[in-house]
Amino acid sequence: MRTTMRTHACGDLRSGDAGATVTVCGWVGHRRDHGGVTFIDLRDRAGAVQVVFHPQDAPDAHAAAQRLGAEDVVRITGAIRARPAGMENPDLATGEVEVAATTLQVLNASETPPFPIEDRIEAGEDLRLRYRYLDLRRPEMTKVLAMRAQIVRLMREHMDGAGFVEIETPILTRSTPEGSRDFLVPSRLWPGTFYALPQSPQQLKQLLMIGGQDRYYQIVRCLRDEASRADRGFEFTQLDVEMSFVTEEDLIALIEPLYARIVRETVGAEVATPFARLTYAEMMTRYGTDKPDLRYGMELVDLAPVFAETGFNAFATVLADGGAIRALSAPSAGSFSRKELDRLIDDTKGRGAAGLVWIAVEAAGAVRSPVEKFLSPVEIAGVLEHTGAAEGDLVCIVADREDRANVALDGLRRDLAGRLHLIPDDAWAFCWMVEPPLFEYSDEEDRWVSVHHPFTAPASEDLEPRSARSRGYDLVLNGFEIGGGSIRIHDPAIQRKVFEILELTPDQTEEQFGHLLRALALGAPPHGGIAMGVDRLVMILAGKDAIRDVIAFPKSQSGTDPLTGAPSPVDDVQLRELGLALTAESETDRGSGSAREG
Ligand code: AMO
Repeated sequence: MRTTMRTHACGDLRSGDAGATVTVCGWVGHRRDHGGVTFIDLRDRAGAVQVVFHPQDAPDAHAAAQRLGAEDVVRITGAIRARPAGMENPDLATGEVEVAATTLQVLNASETPPFPIEDRIEAGEDLRLRYRYLDLRRPEMTKVLAMRAQIVRLMREHMDGAGFVEIETPILTRSTPEGSRDFLVPSRLWPGTFYALPQSPQQLKQLLMIGGQDRYYQIVRCLRDEASRADRGFEFTQLDVEMSFVTEEDLIALIEPLYARIVRETVGAEVATPFARLTYAEMMTRYGTDKPDLRYGMELVDLAPVFAETGFNAFATVLADGGAIRALSAPSAGSFSRKELDRLIDDTKGRGAAGLVWIAVEAAGAVRSPVEKFLSPVEIAGVLEHTGAAEGDLVCIVADREDRANVALDGLRRDLAGRLHLIPDDAWAFCWMVEPPLFEYSDEEDRWVSVHHPFTAPASEDLEPRSARSRGYDLVLNGFEIGGGSIRIHDPAIQRKVFEILELTPDQTEEQFGHLLRALALGAPPHGGIAMGVDRLVMILAGKDAIRDVIAFPKSQSGTDPLTGAPSPVDDVQLRELGLALTAESETDRGSGSAREG
């Protein structure tokens, strides 16, 4: 950390340095005066050290220290000495020493910062993002960014070691239908046409395989104009991988040791390989989701057999309509208050299900439930037997269309695990999801769409949309999808057939995917790949709630950058050059956009 301006980094000083004269630079944190002596915490990226100014030993520096304000940038020379006995700070890596200042130089005074630079930050997200550079001074942010860099370094090491070549793909590409919404960039040279920013280098990495490159990887930024959530943003980073002459087993064997190593080196935990593998169907049955959190139980149970003959109208109607009655048993939740139970019901409705029926198990097989009088003793006994619920537990039942019941129970299971403290600390539950469906029906578009993407190979010759499985796989960690990929279609005839099922006309197929079909017909090797989400992995390992917390300059949840004011209007000259004119409507939006930034 030595530079022409300093001898040491503040955070690196230790008792072994005692006696040395050092020069350190950094930001002024807390300042305290004790019996005429002034103390400051001086902080840089490596950490903080206490600096002490004695009026007798260094009167000028002491006087100058009186005038220091928070976040002033200073350069201090002094002697390292052990702190007096009893004054050590075990919470600080430098806590055994202090710098007895002899000179103090203010390199740059700071205005009063809008929030204090502390790990326990109370400032709202908008303010933190507006002053992200101040937020980044917090040790916690430094730690997260260092972990992120370490993870990317381990990824590069692993991929280089396994004979992969890092190859860059373009940022200006063509719009990809069959994906999420694109971010578009108008072309100036070709007015009326647009580049698209890459949602992922999917087609290009396949073309690299057709180009004989055999093993490609890239740490790559992807851009998707989709609704932001805690674990999803406009911009994110992937470890993107493609390999030739492989099956699923080769990809899995490549990724597992890398992720075991990342967990070992970042959080010091051992994870067993091979990771669990569950089929999509099994995941949906047992957890109601294709990204289950396997750190705790509370598996879902099918109660349709129990209620096959029921006289309870609400359940009978759902079964008659081909719906599902599914449940989970929450340990020790039988004591939930009425208010807590009402919240569970509201949350379930909020996730789109019709409602939630709860049954609290009391002593000797007795139960308490708002629907108790509608259920027969045999049905109640059946519920307890199927769910394994015991005294003190709470059975939560959702009767609805199967997909809605699954969404509701998956959400309930995740919430209850947190509220009931069922999630063990420092547990890293990896699992592979395999054999997903190839297609799913989109009510919105009224046609079949690809579950992964249209280049994913079917698991069998059968391309019946209702039943076809694919050779896709996702990696799930603690209930988050942290990666996904597939073996690809390399036969142009099968690729054409998939486009037909997606209802692309021959003209659309040629226009949008002609380049790929031609390449597949010119010696495409069997190939497959995967893309691993870097942001989500760092978020999970760093124990953060949102990927915004592990990105140096993230967009806010509403997709804006409060620091720079992006997105921003552009001037009319720029628009004219691009051959663009704003409609009256977008002009109005523009107005409200700038108001938002103000
Ligand atoms: P997919 O779209 O499943 O696959 O993305 C792969 C992984 O990238 C991460 N991810 C995201 N992270 C943050 N914000 C987002 N908006 C976001 N979207 C995705 C997830 C996800 O598992 N080209 C294919 C991969 C392939 O087939 O090789 C693709 O991009 O962790």
